[in-house]
Amino acid sequence: MEKRVIDGYAHASYKRPVRSNEELGQRSEDFYLEMDQRRTVREFDTKDVPLKVMENIILTAGTAPSGAHKQPWKFCLISDPLLKKKIRIAAEEEEKISYTSRMSATWKEDLKALGTNWEKPFLELAPHLIVVFKQSYSLENGEKHQHYYVNESVGIACGFLIAAIHNAGLVAVTHTPSPMNFLSELLKRPFYEKPYLIIPVGYAKEDTYVPDIHRKTLDEILVRY
Ligand SMILES: Cc1cc2nc3c(=O)[nH]c(=O)nc-3n(C[C@H](O)[C@H](O)[C@H](O)COP(=O)(O)O)c2cc1C
Repeated sequence: MEKRVIDGYAHASYKRPVRSNEELGQRSEDFYLEMDQRRTVREFDTKDVPLKVMENIILTAGTAPSGAHKQPWKFCLISDPLLKKKIRIAAEEEEKISYTSRMSATWKEDLKALGTNWEKPFLELAPHLIVVFKQSYSLENGEKHQHYYVNESVGIACGFLIAAIHNAGLVAVTHTPSPMNFLSELLKRPFYEKPYLIIPVGYAKEDTYVPDIHRKTLDEILVRY
């Protein structure tokens, strides 16, 4: 790879193949059709997934762009059954309060079609949980380093993560118990990291069903100028 110093900083030559319009059309359609198969699955089989696969998925998330390249994320991989159980107990405690007193009637109405409730067996059944943390800043040798566009950056990384899980042939549920502070304590994370999402990963339970929901059409999501 050719390297060059530009304005005092190292740069590497970068090339992507120039494809024909037919090839672009085919590849973009193939990828869309594959991603259109992705669904949130809430019923898991206990079948294990090799650690190497999980590492590749997390490496893929780490390829996401980030504000000023600060990579303000940390992915905690939990495969230990006892720790998964502790997370389930703590999450269900919060979810029970949320479903009975924190969530609005409209919110609960909106969730009805998805069949969710305060019980989260997937937190124990899925072979792995990925808990994503965001870092508003980092500390290196006691020195504070500011991060930028943290929510946007971590959200994009989670998109890559979810796409990688699907691409590998696995399923996931994007889970957001609220509040999530218990994760910082259970996983002993430093104070400058805040929990962002829990993503259980594994295989769908045999004979599982997902809500029969529909995605907006191109005309509904695209505005042409
Ligand atoms: C930020 C975010 C938070 C979510 N939180 C939860 C959650 O706590 N529990 C859950 O069962 N699903 C959760 N979901 C999954 C959504 O309900 C799901 O993506 C949506 O119903 C569309 O279904 P699909 O993913 O199968 O296309 C969440 C999704 C996102 C993007």
